[in-house]
Amino acid sequence: MTQAALQNYQAALDFAGQQLQVLTDRHPDFFPMYTVNGQWKHEGESWTNWCEGFLGGQLWLLYQHTGQAAWREKAEHYSRLIEHRKTDRSVHDLGFLFWSTWKRWYDLTQDAAINEVVVEAGTTLAKRFKEKGQYLRSFVADESLFIDIMMNVGIIFYAAQQKQDSDLYRIARQHCLTTRRYLVRGDGSTSHEGIFDTDTGVFLRQTTHQGWRVDSSWARGQAWALYGFSTAYHFTRDVRFLNTAEACANFYIENTPEHGIPPNDWMETNPALPYESSAAAIAASGLLDLARLTGDPARARLYHDYALRILDTLTGPEFLAVDTPGWEGILKHGMYHQRKGLGVDESVMWGDYFFLEALSKALADG
Ligand code: GLY
Repeated sequence: MTQAALQNYQAALDFAGQQLQVLTDRHPDFFPMYTVNGQWKHEGESWTNWCEGFLGGQLWLLYQHTGQAAWREKAEHYSRLIEHRKTDRSVHDLGFLFWSTWKRWYDLTQDAAINEVVVEAGTTLAKRFKEKGQYLRSFVADESLFIDIMMNVGIIFYAAQQKQDSDLYRIARQHCLTTRRYLVRGDGSTSHEGIFDTDTGVFLRQTTHQGWRVDSSWARGQAWALYGFSTAYHFTRDVRFLNTAEACANFYIENTPEHGIPPNDWMETNPALPYESSAAAIAASGLLDLARLTGDPARARLYHDYALRILDTLTGPEFLAVDTPGWEGILKHGMYHQRKGLGVDESVMWGDYFFLEALSKALADG
């Protein structure tokens, strides 16, 4: 990493600290999802409740970056506020909630009581498994499998490891194999959702909520896939998951402009907006993991350098909100749900979280 990149990344983390200080002072105990005109607090619809770990997660990352006790106090506080979600059976997002918060807390302390919370969240998530079809159902319906769940299945692998529970391991592994078979295509692109016949478990079709068309590639789903299959490989060492992660990563790299930031969906002709910055932040973080996991030095260099290229773009003036007075988020040009008109060309909490995570990983590697 160049000296200039190092300084840029550190400056971006410092800016994140300023933004998060304002957010937590202005709206204490509030869990934002996306901005409206750059403002976190509004009456906009949520669609589903999956983002409550990303604020605490950013606070943990700031503590790691600065070593300042005040960030740790806030991080613990926002983590405690979501503890009750460890038994939440209404969403498929317990990995997002607890891996970013309580797992970071446990890594720092090795406190068994904190680990218990992470393990319980993973065990709860596994209850979504449909034996007919062999997948963890999405929050939408029994028949529905989302690519997003690949980012959450890691907490089940972790719970399986901690509890030495072979059934939890089976569930997590089978979910990954089912996702690989039905949602990842031959060219490495991914579908957002798969629909199953709940009586027989037979796969029926691919579809999408947040992408452009049933046969197209929603950029954030692609980023969830490349990161999630990397995590699945980390836990299983099953080379099929590494191959899938690399296929998804290669599709992302081959189809995205030089600057590294995709549109919301690569296949959308004349997209209304050129960027979906949160997909890029997630991809950067996932690619830094994949660079460590792949056994091939040339591919490791490709993934690592491409991740830095994304971060160089995201820390530039077009994306970092540092020169946008009154803007409360960190990264601009994110997208939540284009079709519903939610968080379109705004800051999004997960975009900011994975941006900080990727910056932290890059600085640690550098
Ligand atoms: N997991 C929901 C989303 O990516 O929008």
